[in-house]
Amino acid sequence: MKNVLVVYYTQSGQLLDIAKNITNELASSEDVNLSFYEIKLKENFPFPWDKSTFYDAFPESFIQIPADLTDLNNPLLKQKYDLVVVAYQIWYLSPAVPINSFLKNKVAKQLLANTPVLTVIGCRNMWVMAQEKMKKLLVDNGANLVGHISLFDRHPNHISVITIFDWAFSGVKKRILGIFPKPGVSDKDIENSKRFSNDILQTVQSNKYTDLQDKLLNKGAVVIKPFLIVTDKRAQIIFDKWSSFVYKKGKAKDPKRQFRLQMFSYYLMFAIWIIAPLVFIVYLFTFPFTMAKRKKEKYYYSHTKLK
Ligand SMILES: Cc1cc2nc3c(=O)[nH]c(=O)nc-3n(C[C@H](O)[C@H](O)[C@H](O)COP(=O)(O)O)c2cc1C
Repeated sequence: MKNVLVVYYTQSGQLLDIAKNITNELASSEDVNLSFYEIKLKENFPFPWDKSTFYDAFPESFIQIPADLTDLNNPLLKQKYDLVVVAYQIWYLSPAVPINSFLKNKVAKQLLANTPVLTVIGCRNMWVMAQEKMKKLLVDNGANLVGHISLFDRHPNHISVITIFDWAFSGVKKRILGIFPKPGVSDKDIENSKRFSNDILQTVQSNKYTDLQDKLLNKGAVVIKPFLIVTDKRAQIIFDKWSSFVYKKGKAKDPKRQFRLQMFSYYLMFAIWIIAPLVFIVYLFTFPFTMAKRKKEKYYYSHTKLK
């Protein structure tokens, strides 16, 4: 009998739907014992979000400061597994606070040391550098990253910004005015994520993890958008400065912190609507000269090794 655990956190339920589909054939296999563990925070984040909590989550998300968790004595965390699926979302270009908190807790080390891990992302579209941080967290836990699947909103960047804000602040995954597409990962992509489950099942059954990522890649587990890598990398540098500028001001209620967060929220809008299109124009002009670099990056970010 093989044991597989899915560790996840989700606000809307989107990531749980994805995780269930990806493990669909494991759930119905007689050879596999499949369990789900939901990460629980002592003080959960609200959903729908309000504007101040949404921006307030920025510094701790980006600096990767862990929050307090509960349910850490759950018996599911006391066993060893043939595979652990880590299903997470991105907050501010980093692994979201709940998964970061879990992976920085000592229970994660007991659970994940010398264990094959498959990471699964459900996000808006900017995940590449967050997955680098995830690779590092897994190395710190002695885990063995064997596969990665990334699902995201395929609509143009600015459309997905509008729709995700509406989703985050209303809590409803809807088509704004009946014109915009639905936010987040499309229903079709969520449904089609079942296609990965047979490869995962066979890998677990055969205990041969070395070619899992190539099998997943053949089924389109990762789509790399080079422009988003450029944006993600630049934004990491700027977020680094903003997050320490805000974090220096301590607790959520501190008015100085609130003031700095408000400045950050204006900056974020400026960056999305003014800077990103300018970066895109520069990117287009330099496009023919960066082919070799882009090819290398595509290969690297589609795979599981950490540089
Ligand atoms: C505070 C916050 C920050 C986010 N930042 C990003 C981001 O930097 N990149 C991205 O692709 N998605 C981002 N998202 C979208 C999430 O990754 C995720 O897709 C969405 O919140 C739905 O997740 P759920 O499964 O918890 O409902 C963000 C969402 C929230 C709430």
